[in-house]
Amino acid sequence: MEKTGRRASQRFKVRFIVRILALIAALVFFSTSSIGAKELMEKKDTSDSINSRWFGKTASGAEIESFELRSRSGMVANVCTYGATLVSLFVPNKDGSKTNVVLGFDNIRQYEEESPYFGATIGRVANRIARGEFELNSVRYALVANNGPNTLHGGLKGFDKRVWSAQPFERSSERGVILQYESADMEEGFPGKLSVSVTYTLNDMNELRIDYEARTNKSTPVNLTNHSYFNLRGAGNGDVLSHELTINADRYTPVDENLIPIGTLESVEKTAMDFRSATAIGAHLSETTSGYDHNYVLNRSESVDSHPDTNQEVIKAAQVLEPLSGRRLTMFTSEPGVQFYSGNFLDGSVTGNGGIYKKHSGFCLEAQHFPDSVHRPNFPSTILNPDEVYRQTTIYKVSVN
Ligand code: GLA
Repeated sequence: MEKTGRRASQRFKVRFIVRILALIAALVFFSTSSIGAKELMEKKDTSDSINSRWFGKTASGAEIESFELRSRSGMVANVCTYGATLVSLFVPNKDGSKTNVVLGFDNIRQYEEESPYFGATIGRVANRIARGEFELNSVRYALVANNGPNTLHGGLKGFDKRVWSAQPFERSSERGVILQYESADMEEGFPGKLSVSVTYTLNDMNELRIDYEARTNKSTPVNLTNHSYFNLRGAGNGDVLSHELTINADRYTPVDENLIPIGTLESVEKTAMDFRSATAIGAHLSETTSGYDHNYVLNRSESVDSHPDTNQEVIKAAQVLEPLSGRRLTMFTSEPGVQFYSGNFLDGSVTGNGGIYKKHSGFCLEAQHFPDSVHRPNFPSTILNPDEVYRQTTIYKVSVN
């Protein structure tokens, strides 16, 4: 009797110890395992039409979130807090099946190490500043040069390589995310502390709208843009040379051999630059020096289509039709220019969320002020003063014929 009782009590002790050990092991696993943390964050549904997820960790340990915005018309946009980047944009075709139409990556490491600015927010100054220097109010500023002697897209660590804070929001027929970043005084050589916000809004009319705002405490150049590479047949599905492009511009800003504007505005007439009526991107590409990488001066006359839901300043800047899928991209902007870039530097060395990205796998339409404006008093000014607010609205609308 006594023996049986002792054995029972020993069994009870052993089971108790085993349970305690299992509990400790589970606690240790969940507190150290990134998979556990990731799964918990993946389940954080903000609402029916916004879903936030853990996207990854930067090399320096910053946690990156992504926001999936879903429209009732079937479009899905993914935006992440690294570089305030548009990671993917799924658009339904005629049968309702969805294809991603922007080039991107599915992990942070590639965005940090390999990205040619895929989908990123570009700043403080988009495109090139010749010689990486400029003068403002009699002070000379030396910038970080990252493109030969020139500064490209904000320097070595532009806004595309910064971690932004994010706040999702939802209204009746639209939903979005506000991303914010504070750029320090003298960051990459630029004067003034600049507070920037970029708001991505997806509505139920298949429009992705990007609103930018910036304020500074010292005069500084500001020129923001989004650097999405589109392929309307689907990211990774061949090149974009048969896409038919229309740009609402009679003039462009010719460049020198380093892609710096020479300062003139020239007519596109009778040149390979002429996209005033729908023309395949590849039709005259061989007549250019190394592909399209040019700023177009948008026409702003009364006859120009303004966007119906915005102020008159937001005009139709460009349209692209992909004949096989019937997808059409229409771009509206409040900016004076648009950089049309035909993906000339893509060379197949990068594999992303849609496969291998080769030369001309995507095209960019970057709404902006003209490149190198700090050296060109005849170009619209990019200088933001402390008593002013920088504002830009750009809309990408995707439809299917
Ligand atoms: C912009 C520039 C191009 C190139 C790409 C990024 O479009 O104008 O020259 O630098 O960005 O590769």
